[in-house]
Amino acid sequence: MKYEVSEKFKNLKPSAIREIFKSLGTPGSISFAAGNPNPDSFPVADMKRIADEIFENEPVTALQYGITEGYAPLRELVAKRLKKVYDIGTPDDDLIIVTGGQQGIELTCKVVCNEGDTVICENPSFIGALNAFRSLGTKLVGVPLEDDGISLEALENALKANPRAKFLYTIPTFQNPAGITTSYEKRRAVLELAKKYDILILEDNPYGDLRFSGKDVPTYKSMDSEGRVVYCGSFSKVLSAGMRIGFLCAGKELISKIVVAKQVEDVHTNVLFQMICAKYIEQCDLEAHIAEIRVLYRKKAELMISALEKYMPEEVGFTRPEGGIFLWCSLPEGLSLDEFVKKAGEKNVFVVPGTAFAADPEEECHSFRLNYSMPSDDEITRGIKILADIAREMIEKK
Ligand SMILES: Cc1ncc(COP(=O)(O)O)c(C=O)c1O
Repeated sequence: MKYEVSEKFKNLKPSAIREIFKSLGTPGSISFAAGNPNPDSFPVADMKRIADEIFENEPVTALQYGITEGYAPLRELVAKRLKKVYDIGTPDDDLIIVTGGQQGIELTCKVVCNEGDTVICENPSFIGALNAFRSLGTKLVGVPLEDDGISLEALENALKANPRAKFLYTIPTFQNPAGITTSYEKRRAVLELAKKYDILILEDNPYGDLRFSGKDVPTYKSMDSEGRVVYCGSFSKVLSAGMRIGFLCAGKELISKIVVAKQVEDVHTNVLFQMICAKYIEQCDLEAHIAEIRVLYRKKAELMISALEKYMPEEVGFTRPEGGIFLWCSLPEGLSLDEFVKKAGEKNVFVVPGTAFAADPEEECHSFRLNYSMPSDDEITRGIKILADIAREMIEKK
């Protein structure tokens, strides 16, 4: 049968990262491409015990329809933790459990934007969010990132040029893909600009718990006194990604619209996993568990940075994240990113080209993303050596 794909989806490409996954079967391949948490971060034994208890004691709650806003004990526990750890949540706020942060991002855009509206984002940014915005027919305006976060000058220019832009999408802490954290001063200035140009901020913070060096920086949401910030969080990187549990905290009115949008989309988030998540928080020590993940990722990040320092030609720049799971490497101008990524693939080392994260994929890019949460220590050292040899060869030939 012949059918036509909608205008919205016609030009959407599959995520470059998921495509790269397909080439990963080769034995001996090293992937720096994934964004997956390390499987050692899954508390399997605790979750199994809790799941057994649920099926023993509360099978009907787990297997029946639930309410759209989320499993009440989990909502309470998340709200409590947000207040305690991040000073997030006022009497005017509400919280909804969503099917991963991905759904929180998409639902926010869905209730705020009409087709043709503008969304301002960091450039580069998280491909899942960019594709969600594209799929809703919005126009993306990318604002370059600097070492301490979004460029204020470029942001103000974008706000001036797009006075009806609906929101700024930002990942201020351990950004995906760049690994950058927006400084406190910049956050204050961005909030001021958001006030001046009267625009919402969608703050996406799935990595905020994973700081392994430096000092915490307050979230936008905790600095917001006028309901301007929608906060999106997730348990994907601290408990389990397959569980698909995230949350949104925002003003009550906005959340009530998001509830309606979620009812249309999937009725509610999987109840069994919401229960497992809630009981894990009640019975186990989530903060100690997160502390262990931080130690694991600190070691891996340090190993990758020291391999980059040791082997990579100095013309290749890279970020030094204080948390999260990614760092961002930039080839010198004049070197072809496509050629570099292809050559790496031929040697069975996989990285994601920066073009995948661009607001405008046609724009020239010399950077690529490296993930350190998944590869083994040996793979990190061997893989960086291979990438360094390719870069050196290309620089020498230039
Ligand atoms: C910046 C960012 N936001 C949101 C998500 C979505 O996470 P999830 O839907 O698993 O909660 C990811 C996942 O990698 C991410 O990197």
